[in-house]
Amino acid sequence: MIVYHEPSRTYTLHTKHTTYQLAVHPTGVVQHVYYGPRLRDCDLTGLLRYADRGFSPNPEEAGADRTFSLDTTPQEYSTCGVGDFRLPSIEFELTCGSRTADLRYARGQIRRGKYALEGLPAFYGGEEEWETLSVVLRDDAAQAEVELLYGVLEEYDLITRSVLVRNAGQGPVRLCRCASLCLDLPRSDLDMVTFNGAHMMERCPSRAPLRPGIQSAGSVRGASSHQHNPFVILCDREANEDYGLCYGAMLLYSGNFQAAVETGQFENARLVMGVNPCHFTWTLEPGEVFSAPEAAMVCSEAGLGEMSRRFHRAIRDRLVRDRLRGRRKPVLVNNWEATYFDFDPEKLLAIAREAAALGVELFVLDDGWFGKRDDDNSGLGDWQVNTDKLPGGLEALAPAINDLGLSFGLWVEPEMVSEDSDLYRAHPDWALQVPGRTPARGRNQLVLDFSRREIRDHIYAQLHRVLSSAPVTYVKWDMNRSLSGVWSAALPPQRQGEVYHRCVLGVYEMLERLRTDFPEILVEGCCGGGGRFDGGMLYYTPQIWCSDNTDAIDRLRIQYGTSFCYPVCTMGAHVSAVPNEQNGRVTPLETRGIAAMSGAFGYELDLSKCTPEEKACIRRQIETYKARWELLQLGDYYRLTDPFREGPYTAWEQVSPDRREALVSVVFGGARAVSPFRVLKLKGLDPGARYQVDGAGCWGGDALMYAGFPLPAVKGDYQAVQLHLTAVDD
Ligand code: GLA
Repeated sequence: MIVYHEPSRTYTLHTKHTTYQLAVHPTGVVQHVYYGPRLRDCDLTGLLRYADRGFSPNPEEAGADRTFSLDTTPQEYSTCGVGDFRLPSIEFELTCGSRTADLRYARGQIRRGKYALEGLPAFYGGEEEWETLSVVLRDDAAQAEVELLYGVLEEYDLITRSVLVRNAGQGPVRLCRCASLCLDLPRSDLDMVTFNGAHMMERCPSRAPLRPGIQSAGSVRGASSHQHNPFVILCDREANEDYGLCYGAMLLYSGNFQAAVETGQFENARLVMGVNPCHFTWTLEPGEVFSAPEAAMVCSEAGLGEMSRRFHRAIRDRLVRDRLRGRRKPVLVNNWEATYFDFDPEKLLAIAREAAALGVELFVLDDGWFGKRDDDNSGLGDWQVNTDKLPGGLEALAPAINDLGLSFGLWVEPEMVSEDSDLYRAHPDWALQVPGRTPARGRNQLVLDFSRREIRDHIYAQLHRVLSSAPVTYVKWDMNRSLSGVWSAALPPQRQGEVYHRCVLGVYEMLERLRTDFPEILVEGCCGGGGRFDGGMLYYTPQIWCSDNTDAIDRLRIQYGTSFCYPVCTMGAHVSAVPNEQNGRVTPLETRGIAAMSGAFGYELDLSKCTPEEKACIRRQIETYKARWELLQLGDYYRLTDPFREGPYTAWEQVSPDRREALVSVVFGGARAVSPFRVLKLKGLDPGARYQVDGAGCWGGDALMYAGFPLPAVKGDYQAVQLHLTAVDD
């Protein structure tokens, strides 16, 4: 619900459990008043206080009042160079050369439904469940209107934000910065949590108290990156999984981003999140509009666990557009780690035959099926089947896979080009390159200029032909290098700051076309694993390959970090062979299955080489997954331990929304000869209910949560157990 209160000129946004308030100050500056647990309709402007502070200038409208300063008052969208010295949200380059921005309220409007952002991903939903607040600000010197958009999804406790900048003048308007979200909090005794890492070790949480100055996470790699995720948390210092006030903010964007927090001089904190201002400028002709990507916020008064569950529900139900919504996704087998580039139809069919016998439902042909591609040095850009390798093409292979009872999926990497390819030989100027500089290669490949429509069209036409040539039901859309040398031959010098963002828009446009033309295809995102795991991609690709690291124990950490924002159904997770390809670790097959099941589940090994015992185990895993998928994928997710703390085991739990059923997964660390008796306290159960724990009798929900469940003693490294609980009627 959104309420405008005329006497106080406040807009109040209510979700089921939270309230957010902003106010229009007599100067026209739009102030931030409150974000936190739900309050009754109220005017909270008494929380805004004023004092004459040294070195904090006063705007013209304040007249003789020295207590009002942009430098000290909390704002909804911070300006630049006109008296607020904290993190700016927006910056114009005026025709006179000044780089400033100054905004004043023009008008506001509350309406039903959700605002639309052209060409950008966004949370969606019906008119009846969303409300939009639009607050239009003006910068007269810049001849621009800045529209702050707020979407309220009350039932999900989600508030989204975006910003539209409109050229309201006669000449060009130049933007040098345009954030999506600015959140001014009245306190700085908070921890900031960011999710960081590297290729093969993504989204490791890092938590630290805010300190004076600016702390930030971001990317200038052209993708949201393995190194930092466009999701941050600010929380009480003592907040934990079950306790404390937490704010989570995600950016639905897959390119260069920045999430920065500044701790101000009066113990306040400002979070600004959006497209990274580094390498960014945008020119608007009269009447044109720039849309900042959407950001989404959740506030939880009940700890990090509840914050995550709110994000999970909203992402699952109102961001991901899944043709299989509410239905189980197929269990897949992918040939990458089984064969790499070295395959022929016989090898592939041998894996598929075995897979079908074990209950797998989808066969995914990974890299190496097209152009001249026997290793990763050539072929990208030539999206025609290599018929030397696959005689008869996909027209022969896919039906043969179908005949075994499996559907067929295909890997592509459309944004890239190898210099050793027909495409590059014909169009060397299609790759991003700065004139006069030599290109940097990544995985020995270059990046196509996806800001250019004709290049996207050419690639899309090839993909369309391939995907139309065979019954393809799944596509893995990969992207295997960071962008560098970003310069487009299609734009004039003063517009080169648009290229990174235009490339991201180009990727979104292609993915949308794919979705429209092939509605039956499930697209999995990928970027060397999880280098583009963000809310932007999830709008187009309901699942994303979580990491190129398939080791079950490393995956516990990666999936744990990922779970702070993203639901398990979005995390591609496969059982692979041991010793693990990435780190050489040997883990039991049962453990690998349990780790992968809390994800978009599949296999990535040569099943035709498995022993009869291994096959029996895989068959059991697939049966368990099929029986419990609803609980695993759609249940409320509880992190029971933190795998980064090196405890004796890692545990997590999924609980059905009605709390009648739960699944607890526990993975132990290295073996110990004399290990203490371990007790695991569960969460989210109905304390008044009695639960049948398979193989272990009946337990009260209260006992399981407050006294705990006695874990079995295990022998051997990295053992795992899974406990299934069902409520029983007394
Ligand atoms: C990336 C992906 C892998 C695999 C290879 C193929 O690294 O993350 O899963 O598809 O590319 O080259």
